[in-house]
Amino acid sequence: MSKIKNTEYGLEKTFEGAQDFLPLLGTDYVEFYVGNAKQAAHFYKTAFGFQSLAYAGLETGIKDRASYVLSQDKIRLVLTTPLNSNSVINEHITKHGDSVKVIALWVDDAVRSFEETTKRGAKVFMEPHIENDEHGEVIRSGIYTYGDTVHVFVERKNYNGIFLPGYQPWKSDYNPSPVGLKFIDHMVGNVGWGEMNKWVKWYEDVMGFVNFLSFDDKQIHTEYSALMSKVMSNGNGRIKFPINEPAEGKKKSQIEEYLDFFEGAGVQHIAVATDDIIKTVMELKSRGVEFLSAPPHTYYEEIPGRLGKHMNDMHEDISILEKLAILVDADEDGYLLQIFTKPVEDRPTLFFEIIQRMGAKGFGAGNFKALFESIEREQAKRGTL
Ligand code: FE2
Repeated sequence: MSKIKNTEYGLEKTFEGAQDFLPLLGTDYVEFYVGNAKQAAHFYKTAFGFQSLAYAGLETGIKDRASYVLSQDKIRLVLTTPLNSNSVINEHITKHGDSVKVIALWVDDAVRSFEETTKRGAKVFMEPHIENDEHGEVIRSGIYTYGDTVHVFVERKNYNGIFLPGYQPWKSDYNPSPVGLKFIDHMVGNVGWGEMNKWVKWYEDVMGFVNFLSFDDKQIHTEYSALMSKVMSNGNGRIKFPINEPAEGKKKSQIEEYLDFFEGAGVQHIAVATDDIIKTVMELKSRGVEFLSAPPHTYYEEIPGRLGKHMNDMHEDISILEKLAILVDADEDGYLLQIFTKPVEDRPTLFFEIIQRMGAKGFGAGNFKALFESIEREQAKRGTL
C-alpha cells in the first residue's frame, strides 16, 4: 500500500509497509573523504554551483583534519581531508580514492535510532555522543552499511549554528552562482556478486525500509553486460537507496568495473533533483562538467511513442534534449528527464545524476539500455569492458 503527496521534496510516495522504528526526516549531509579538500571544494563550487557554508580545521582548533561544508538548496556536502599520515581517514582514501564515506540521516532521536538499528544487527561506527557549542547541542551516532560506507544519525533540534558544533561560517570572496540543484533524490550503492539480496534484507530488517522496485538482469542488460538492481525506500519516501550488483554478461559489467576500482562496495552515484534540467545542464556544461554521450538519434525519434499519453504534458523541445544528451523516460504517473556525468575522479567510480521528475516515480528503467551502452563506450576507452 502506498500514498502519494506533494511536498517540498517533490512528489512523495509513502510506503505503509515500512517500519516506523526509524523515522527519518531526510538526508542531513553527505561526507566525502578526499585527498585535498581545499581543491575539491573549489571544484564543487565552480563546476556544480555549491555555496560556501562552513569550515572546520586548524584555524578552528581541529588538529587532524580539515572539512569544508558546501550547500545548494537542501543539499549539504562535506569534504574532509586528513592533515597527517596517522589519520584513519587515509586508509579510506588509499583503498577507495576520493569517495563518499558518510550518508548522514536527519532524525529526531539519534540515541533511539542507534539503539533500534544496532539491536537489529547494525555494526557500530560511532556510539551516540553530544557535541556542544554556543549555538546549542547536536547528538550524533553512526552505523556501518555496505563496504566501508556509514550512516550517521544527526539530531539537531536543539541546535541553531551554521552546521555542527566546531564549525565556523565559511566566508569566501569566490561565490559562483548555484545551478539549480535542489535536493538528493536517491543515492545508489554498488555491492559485490550475489550480495544485493543480503543488503536489501539488511535495509528491511535493520532500517525498516521497503523494497518497492526491482530490476533483474533480463531487464537491465545490453549486448555485452548486465546488472541487477533493487530500490529501497524509507517510510516517507524521502530516502531512496537503489542497490546494484553485477550480473554475468559477455563482457565485464560496469558494476564489476566499479567494484574493481573502488576495491569493494560503495556509493556509485548521487542523483540530485532540479526543476529545470535544461537550464541546469547547460550551466553545468559551460562550467566543465562532463556528461555521458547522447544515445543514437533513433532514441529521440522514439520518445513520443515511449511517452504515450504523457507526451501531451511534455514542455521540453526534444531537439534540445538531444543536443544536451538528456534522457527521457515515463511510467504510469508521468515522465522524467535525467542525465549522468562521467566519473568525477580518476578512478571510474562515483558519478552524479541530474534528474527532473515530471510526475514519474521510477528511476529511468526505459533508459537503462541506452545509458549502459553509453557507459560501455567509456569502458571500452578505458580498456575495462
Ligand atoms: Fe539513479
